[in-house]
Amino acid sequence: MQEDVGETPAARWRVETRLTVLGRGDHRPGQPLNVPIVPASNFWAAASGQAGREYARGDGTPGWEALEELLGDLEGGRAVCFSSGMAAIAAVLELLPAGARVVAPRDSYTGLRSLLADGAAAGGRWRVRIVDMTDGEALAAAAPDADLVWLETPSNPLLEVVDIAEVVRVAAATGALVAVDNTFATPLLQSPLELGADVVVHSATKFIGGHSDLLLGAVVTRDARDHARLVRRREVAGATPGALECFLALRGARTLALRLRQAQATAGELARRLQTHPAVERVRYPGLPDDPNHARAAAQMAGFGAVVSFELIDAASADAVAAAVEVIAPTTSLGGVESTIERRARLEGQEHVPAGLLRLSVGCEHVEDLWTDLAAALEAARSAAGR
Ligand SMILES: Cc1ncc(COP(=O)(O)O)c(C=O)c1O
Repeated sequence: MQEDVGETPAARWRVETRLTVLGRGDHRPGQPLNVPIVPASNFWAAASGQAGREYARGDGTPGWEALEELLGDLEGGRAVCFSSGMAAIAAVLELLPAGARVVAPRDSYTGLRSLLADGAAAGGRWRVRIVDMTDGEALAAAAPDADLVWLETPSNPLLEVVDIAEVVRVAAATGALVAVDNTFATPLLQSPLELGADVVVHSATKFIGGHSDLLLGAVVTRDARDHARLVRRREVAGATPGALECFLALRGARTLALRLRQAQATAGELARRLQTHPAVERVRYPGLPDDPNHARAAAQMAGFGAVVSFELIDAASADAVAAAVEVIAPTTSLGGVESTIERRARLEGQEHVPAGLLRLSVGCEHVEDLWTDLAAALEAARSAAGR
């Protein structure tokens, strides 16, 4: 008889405990507590007619399995890991039939937009409609016509929050799949599958790994058929996760709750202080009570996350801040223990992003050191501009 997920011991534990206990592999005496790195493509074949792990691309490695056990549990489904977040996104899109209609957000990670644009250009692999997800009417008009509605919430870099359950309701009318990129929220702050979404995607490169030392992606689904199709995509397309990356991601995930708690508290404090700074035109953080996304985020999320975006008057001022910070690292990625900052409008496909917007990913440094660093950089930028 199949075991009911609700009856597993893990279901009785809180998330901090599950982060620590799950993904431990073989529990027999003498086995290592941490699933070791198994740098293997090839395994001794089972006797003819018997099942067994033979080749890693199709059959996996102990490291993938351990990480998938944990990520699946956290999201309430079954996880399939890929070589990067983009590989995970591509695998989901490849489930669609040729010519499928995809509704995607105006504000999202640039890689998604590029992938969609390439597919649309390549003989109409899919037809893409870009929608401002905060515009309920535009979304309601587009979703019923779609095969897949893609959400990224909170979005990168504008931190827009979409009501997942509402989109699921609209999409249900025509049976469109709803996929949610949960990278910014992490499984700890938002549970899209519980809200009715079909697919959750992560760039585990970010908060899950948490140390800027790996690339890894995951897709989590509840539907057994979708899961099997994703496993097959990985096997035939070959975007497999590396053995070292899985080990590092699992090790990073062990401290996700601690890192996120610290980073999120700091992010909220920095957002409040930035709001009162004379050089800052606007702060975007769903945790601020006057942020337009606040009510949706408060209803849907267990916390507001560790990314804050704020706008300066122009690109030159924002570039000056990014150049002047000493504690915060001017880098393009996010979600690590170290705070990072980037002016996102400098990237291709970010024309809708205000030129002076800086995306700040808050790490685990002391809040006062971060504030001193930011305040000094803001002041340096002001004097450079002669304001
Ligand atoms: C929200 C989001 N989704 C997906 C990705 C892509 O992930 P990866 O870089 O691991 O391929 C990123 C990368 O920045 C991201 O920010």
